[in-house]
Amino acid sequence: MSDVFANARQIQAEITAENPENAEQLEAFRIKYLGSKGILKNLMGEMASVPNDRKREYGQLVNAVKQTAEEKFLALREQFEAQASAFDIRTLDLTAPGEPLPIGSRHPVAVTMNRIVDIFSRMGFSVADGPEIEDDWHNFTAMNTPEDHPARDMQDTFYVVDAPGMLLRTHTSPVQARVMENRKPPIRIIAPGRVYRNETISTRSHCQFHQVEGLYIDKGVSFADLKQTLFNFAQEMFGATKIRLRPSFFPFTEPSAEMDIWLGTDTEKNYRLTKGTGWLEILGCGMVDPAVLEMCGIDPTEYSGFAFGMGIERQALRLYEIGDIRLLFENDVRFLRQFSSAI
Ligand code: DAH
Repeated sequence: MSDVFANARQIQAEITAENPENAEQLEAFRIKYLGSKGILKNLMGEMASVPNDRKREYGQLVNAVKQTAEEKFLALREQFEAQASAFDIRTLDLTAPGEPLPIGSRHPVAVTMNRIVDIFSRMGFSVADGPEIEDDWHNFTAMNTPEDHPARDMQDTFYVVDAPGMLLRTHTSPVQARVMENRKPPIRIIAPGRVYRNETISTRSHCQFHQVEGLYIDKGVSFADLKQTLFNFAQEMFGATKIRLRPSFFPFTEPSAEMDIWLGTDTEKNYRLTKGTGWLEILGCGMVDPAVLEMCGIDPTEYSGFAFGMGIERQALRLYEIGDIRLLFENDVRFLRQFSSAI
């Protein structure tokens, strides 16, 4: 009877002495001792031959042997798994192509803005900017917009609560005033940026959008300079072959005009876009009103200049033939991804 006890102890010693060196050897170890036909099963089977008064003792011994085997198995399994996932320079293929990293893309509004900035910088304009939270004076007064002008209405402008005279700029034109206050002519700037209007959101308008402002002040600047500069822009930006300037009104320019580009009516798309006229409105412009120059500290008897302003979203819709302005603000990656090749 002492044989089965001795046998169990012998097996325990064997288990302790076992030294599996890799995952396969460990699996063989498991099958040998812990498998369904393994040695421990056999040891348990010997129970029948153990006298009743020693069965309990034998059971405890076999359990201890089993525990030794299980602990060894679990510890080694953990060790081999950790080794398998560890970085091993010997298995690294330095000639394999890299994993592609997902990269973002520029927003179509940013792409359009960059294009506009690029075209005007090649004509000698430099970029200027001003604050989005603007004061009443720069946004309206300096832009020759009278106190009772409807644009000043709460319906159209977001005023800052608890900060009298402060508002979210409704256009980029106040940058004109800020630049003129601080610099001497010649001045040749463009000012891209965000503007805000209290408008109901529709397919064509939004409360927050972007504009680019342009300003050129020097001695002897004429309407002909304005026309040539804008024609150059229309050619570069849209490939336009013809522009026209229609008389218009803006408080800060005199005379004022709106510029259309010629698309023609050859295609159905252009026919619809131009409402059958062939002409598409692009921007507002004019000669800087002498009252504006004077308010901003520039002598209108010595200097003259032109200004222009345009909404960037509108140009982006045109450039990429996007049907609904809201797509530009929703940040839906399925939409934005389509511009990943644009710079
Ligand atoms: N500020 C005008 C707007 O928001 C656009 C504009 C028109 C700007 C004529 C100008 C300009 O500088 O000369 O609608």
